Amino acid sequence: MQTRSYAVSWVIHVCIILIMCARTNASHFRGGTISWKPTGRENEVQFSFKLGWTYNRGPGCTTEKVGQLVTNMNNSYWQCTSGCNSSLNIANVNYICTGASQSENWEQGEGTFTYKFPGIGPYTVEFTGSAWVTLSHGSPGSWSIGSVVYLGERNDTKQPNISPITTGKPVYRVPYGCQSEIVIPVVDADDDVVKCRWSTGSECVSICGALPNATIDSNTCTIRLSATHTAEGTFAVAVTVQDFPQNNITIDNQVHLTTAPLSTVTLQFLVKTPVLTSNCENKPSFVSPTLPQASIIYTKVFQTVNLLFYASGNRSISSITMTTPAGMTYTSLQNDPMLNGTVFLNATWTPQQNQVGTHITCAIAEDVIGKTSDSRCITIIVKDSNECVDNPCQNNGTCTDGLCLCQPGYTDDKCQTGFEAMPNNELRAKVKTAKEFFVLVIIQNILYMQQCLEYNILVTLFTSI
Ligand SMILES: *[C@@H]1O[C@H](CO)[C@@H](O)[C@H](O)[C@H]1NC(C)=O
Ligand SMILES: *[C@@H]1O[C@H](CO)[C@@H](O)[C@H](O)[C@H]1NC(C)=O
Ligand SMILES: *[C@@H]1O[C@H](CO)[C@@H](O)[C@H](O)[C@H]1NC(C)=O
Ligand SMILES: *[C@@H]1O[C@H](CO)[C@@H](O)[C@H](O)[C@H]1NC(C)=O
Ligand SMILES: *[C@@H]1O[C@H](CO)[C@@H](O)[C@H](O)[C@H]1NC(C)=O
Ligand SMILES: *[C@@H]1O[C@H](CO)[C@@H](O)[C@H](O)[C@H]1NC(C)=O
Ligand SMILES: *[C@@H]1O[C@H](CO)[C@@H](O)[C@H](O)[C@H]1NC(C)=O
Ligand SMILES: *[C@@H]1O[C@H](CO)[C@@H](O)[C@H](O)[C@H]1NC(C)=O
Ligand SMILES: *[C@@H]1O[C@H](CO)[C@@H](O)[C@H](O)[C@H]1NC(C)=O
Repeated sequence: MQTRSYAVSWVIHVCIILIMCARTNASHFRGGTISWKPTGRENEVQFSFKLGWTYNRGPGCTTEKVGQLVTNMNNSYWQCTSGCNSSLNIANVNYICTGASQSENWEQGEGTFTYKFPGIGPYTVEFTGSAWVTLSHGSPGSWSIGSVVYLGERNDTKQPNISPITTGKPVYRVPYGCQSEIVIPVVDADDDVVKCRWSTGSECVSICGALPNATIDSNTCTIRLSATHTAEGTFAVAVTVQDFPQNNITIDNQVHLTTAPLSTVTLQFLVKTPVLTSNCENKPSFVSPTLPQASIIYTKVFQTVNLLFYASGNRSISSITMTTPAGMTYTSLQNDPMLNGTVFLNATWTPQQNQVGTHITCAIAEDVIGKTSDSRCITIIVKDSNECVDNPCQNNGTCTDGLCLCQPGYTDDKCQTGFEAMPNNELRAKVKTAKEFFVLVIIQNILYMQQCLEYNILVTLFTSI
């Protein structure tokens, strides 16, 4: 009798342990973001994403694997969930490992993929799942990281919109009880106005409004928080980043006002609220020769860039955490004999062909008692060393030294605009004499062959003389 009830209780214990293990295993999501840009080939879009997971429990990034492709999530996908045929798997969520912290218990990576849509959209592309880590506010339920792709042509850039980009660490440490700020870095390749707001509804699913006592400044994308809710707590943050045109424009010939967002991307991350053993002041900071906050540097494909991040503070610096584009590697902390009390890290990146475009690299320094600096973010714009590699020319145009030679009937820098020569009978109706008609047909044919749109204007001028 005694033995039997012991056995039952043992079985129950094992069950509880198994359930708890299953839950912990599943509760591993730590946010991310996705952005996109049209490739210039018809309705094809290149996506770039970052995801964060519990240390070594996502695709498998560890500190030793920074710079390598990690593939432990072969069965999880970015999906097209609206606009496409039902829940189409588009690309795997595996990524190139960009950073990991065993002490803060996260890994992060970046991946890119391209997809050719059947039309201009809109299409919703997202990665959904159901296992945020356990949170101190709100439920640790489902997540969705995504963006809506719309490929109508803007009349100002003569191409579809490019989404804004943003980045973030999987986990930010905000001292409990201190007034703190998290500045979200944002960049937009079209020079649009970028604004941030709290995510709502399906943008954030289970973690909407999960950061209590915080405000967001929509113009500067700055979150201000006093972190007074839970000491040693974990909170999820969902921010929506949108780009707005500087002037009224048209998209696919529809008027688009400056008040309407062009595209929407989401950024999600965690905030932890450690209790510090000192006051709220005296945090570490980045010092010269570190590039100033929000500096922009240019490079091209296969041309290596080096970034140095120097940090100092009243206590020694224990780490500098990097959020980087895929493939950037960085040294451990080094001492500079010329700068006493200052440590630095040397980051190196050789952009690949699929990384043409805008990237953000951020660093955060932390001292021995866990105080963190403001982030120092640098924008890196990668130019195509040979603009023709990707053939940007449409409608069978050929690319030479970055310039498009268009087929007859097409014009503009990417041969994206078609026009038709006026049929001879219409031309004939516009002029009075056979001689005028003869001259016009010749002019029209010359201009048409040279892809001049202005020939219509010339016809008008000629016939009004
Ligand atoms: C995931 O798939 C890739 C390509 O098929 C394969 O090389 C890799 O070993 C797979 N990873 C795992 C963990 O099975
Ligand atoms: C849906 O699938 C059909 C047939 O497979 C295809 O022709 C169509 O282009 C698809 N539509 C979208 C939006 O992907
Ligand atoms: C935080 O929010 C709660 C209610 O949401 C409020 O009662 C409390 O006063 C706020 N604390 C601070 C420091 O703003
Ligand atoms: C954009 O259009 C709206 C409505 O037509 C108008 O009120 C506004 O002044 C325009 N803005 C600019 C910058 O032209
Ligand atoms: C784009 O369209 C807007 C609104 O119709 C117009 O005001 C603007 O001049 C156009 N811009 C270009 C470059 O054509
Ligand atoms: C170090 O502490 C002094 C005074 O305690 C303060 O003035 C100074 O700004 C601090 N330096 C840093 C980098 O926090
Ligand atoms: C660096 O600082 C330490 C202690 O703060 C001091 O002992 C040492 O002499 C300094 N070194 C140089 C090169 O200034
Ligand atoms: C940083 O790394 C690059 C390449 O590895 C090297 O050329 C450069 O001297 C390094 N800079 C410093 C300050 O260590
Ligand atoms: C481009 O060339 C292909 C094959 O030569 C042809 O089928 C297609 O119609 C051409 N497209 C245009 C827009 O001229």
